[in-house]
Amino acid sequence: MPQKNTVAEVLASTTDSLKQVSDNHGLEAELILAHTLKVSRSKLLTKLGDTLTLSQNKKVSKLLSQRLKNAPLAYLLGSAWFYRREFKVSQAVLIPRPETEGLVELALNWAKNKAKRPLKTLEAGTGSGCIALTLAAENKNLQVLALDISASALQIARKNKEILIPANKHITFIKKDLFNFKPQKKFDLIISNPPYIPTNSYLKLEKSVKDFEPRIALDGGMDGLRYYRKLFELVKTNLESGGFACFELDAENYLKVKELAEQNFAVSAEIKILPDLAGRNRYLTISFA
Ligand SMILES: C[S@@+](CC[C@H](N)C(=O)[O-])C[C@H]1O[C@@H](n2cnc3c(N)ncnc32)[C@H](O)[C@@H]1O
Repeated sequence: MPQKNTVAEVLASTTDSLKQVSDNHGLEAELILAHTLKVSRSKLLTKLGDTLTLSQNKKVSKLLSQRLKNAPLAYLLGSAWFYRREFKVSQAVLIPRPETEGLVELALNWAKNKAKRPLKTLEAGTGSGCIALTLAAENKNLQVLALDISASALQIARKNKEILIPANKHITFIKKDLFNFKPQKKFDLIISNPPYIPTNSYLKLEKSVKDFEPRIALDGGMDGLRYYRKLFELVKTNLESGGFACFELDAENYLKVKELAEQNFAVSAEIKILPDLAGRNRYLTISFA
């Protein structure tokens, strides 16, 4: 691979190669170079005439070849942005998705209109901790209990807490199987982006997702409803009156979740399906008077 190449040359050749696997080839190439040179993207653009060292060249080649095998860039760089914060990620956790920011926004909007008092919050399936940590960071009234079945995911979530909001006392992570979770207390807010892809669709997912992201974070069982059934039970037994629940949905499967919610809550609560920024039906909210 390259001998004495300038940043501009490596950027151009990396961008070109990435066209095979990414629609964001330019951005991804910049991120790879910025990561390798340990500078921000804007700083990178002031260094276009610099020459890469041998080890920097090798590092770019290695990242590029992994990316060309469909490894998601966030795993290669070890981080992903979510709601203006940079979260550590590894293959133990789902890469935070932009549409999940919309779910967080719904919860924050609900909480904003509540009287100032502690709001007991449950996040089921926390992964990197992106939802739980954002809620705790953005609204000091939210006291968040975040659970996950995966010990390695929780390690990442706890690391993110230490990096992003070390002094915040309003968040607790616990290792728990949702299906054996019988909390003694009630919550004001229940939120989850659960595994929701029906097994058959999961098996057909694109390689960059299926071969790299944890199946346990994605596969929602045969009909994609396995987790919602349990979450709705929790809403019934453990949501305070006046409480709010919100869940992310598979836009392909939202009608089935809506029907299930209506079977459970049509009489007692207001049920809404809401779109993400791309206009796809992405969120379910259940509000109790
Ligand atoms: C779709 S991911 C969501 C991760 C993160 N909250 C986000 O939005 O990016 C679902 C999470 O649920 C966790 N999970 C799967 N089965 C579980 C179970 N039975 N009990 C608790 N957590 C579970 C997975 O480990 C994964 O972290």
